[in-house]
Amino acid sequence: MTQLTIIVPTRNEVDNVTTLFSRVNAAFADIQAEILVVDDSDDSTPFLVAEQAQISALPVRLLHRPRDERHGGLGSAVVAGARHARGEWVVVMDADLQHPPEVVAHLAQVAARHSADIVVGTRYAGNGSTGDGLDGARRTAGSSTATRLARALFPRRLATITDPMSGLFAFRRTAVQLDRLDPIGFKLLLEILVRHPGSTVAEVSYEMAARHAGDSKASVKEAMTYLRHLTRLRRHRLAGQLTQAPKTKRERVQQLGRMVAFGLVGLSGVAVNTAALWAAYSAAGLNHLLGAAIATQASTLWNFALIELLVYRGKGNGTWTSRAVRFWAMNNLLLLLRLPVLQVLVLTGIGVLVSNGITLVVLFLLRFLLSDRVIYGT
Ligand code: GDD
Ligand code: MN
Repeated sequence: MTQLTIIVPTRNEVDNVTTLFSRVNAAFADIQAEILVVDDSDDSTPFLVAEQAQISALPVRLLHRPRDERHGGLGSAVVAGARHARGEWVVVMDADLQHPPEVVAHLAQVAARHSADIVVGTRYAGNGSTGDGLDGARRTAGSSTATRLARALFPRRLATITDPMSGLFAFRRTAVQLDRLDPIGFKLLLEILVRHPGSTVAEVSYEMAARHAGDSKASVKEAMTYLRHLTRLRRHRLAGQLTQAPKTKRERVQQLGRMVAFGLVGLSGVAVNTAALWAAYSAAGLNHLLGAAIATQASTLWNFALIELLVYRGKGNGTWTSRAVRFWAMNNLLLLLRLPVLQVLVLTGIGVLVSNGITLVVLFLLRFLLSDRVIYGT
């Protein structure tokens, strides 16, 4: 039985194919593996692969995707390949020899012995690096920004993963549900990690080599695709968080407890908010809507401090500063919802302070669920 499938995505890599095959065959001489090339080329890459398949010691399969199946790009090519993989493990590597085949073989051996679900080749731990020269420096700049963005959006999942942008990684086929994956662009590993939040990860450090021949397919358009990919993943996580009800009875009781504590803090916050609105509107004579906006800043500060200290005791999704930012954003978005309602209530003749209090209380449940699941939840 084949233990391992090496998936190599290719797009116009004519000048790399021959070297790739000879180096992979040498590096994997003692490892049972098959090579699966998933090709989206317009040049003669697939013909060269077919030629190499004739003389390769490792079994080779070629999946050449027709033009109309290529829109998902690199990530989707690897997913398509994974559907045909026969190995217990899938190792993904680039065709341009930036992932030295000797390193890939080492990573495959670590994976085969490891209990983890995913093994990531990392450039940002141990002896890893993005390589020398301008190319390496440029790559570090680009990929560290990309990593920081992803980390801000998925702080828990990526907390211990040093290189979620890596194109070199291995996964246990049974640990990844391919039907859950729907990547666009280059960052398939990130897609796998976010859509399999429970999967365990190990890392192997490596030094990225320079491109052997030809040009990189990375581009400004690819960077935009990455941003779209991030928003898609974030939306998916958010939907998961909002629909994910507590499962056991104990969890439900705990959540009820948090809701009561949250509600008590909230009531004290309504008092703070009302006092601030009174000061701005009744005492200082400001417009009531402006007053409500100012009061929201005061009660947000008050509520956050108490919720952080008393309800969740400093435990939650991300750092406390990131929670503060999200909490502030939530209350100000809700403020935008409250203002028109406040205006309507005031016009019907209800006093400003009472109207404001009503709009605050009505949104209690929404505020609690958003906080409990998105800001503090997993
Ligand atoms: N099948 C297929 N379809 N393969 C593609 C496509 C595509 O649309 N686009 C690129 N590839 C192949 C290339 O032929 C190459 O083998 C590999 O994917 C990586 O593409 P490069 O053009 O060399 O990109 P890179 O070096 O900038 O990106 C690498 O490093 C990034 C991190 O710095 C990749 O490993 C990325 O996945 C990684 O995020
Ligand atoms: Mn490359």
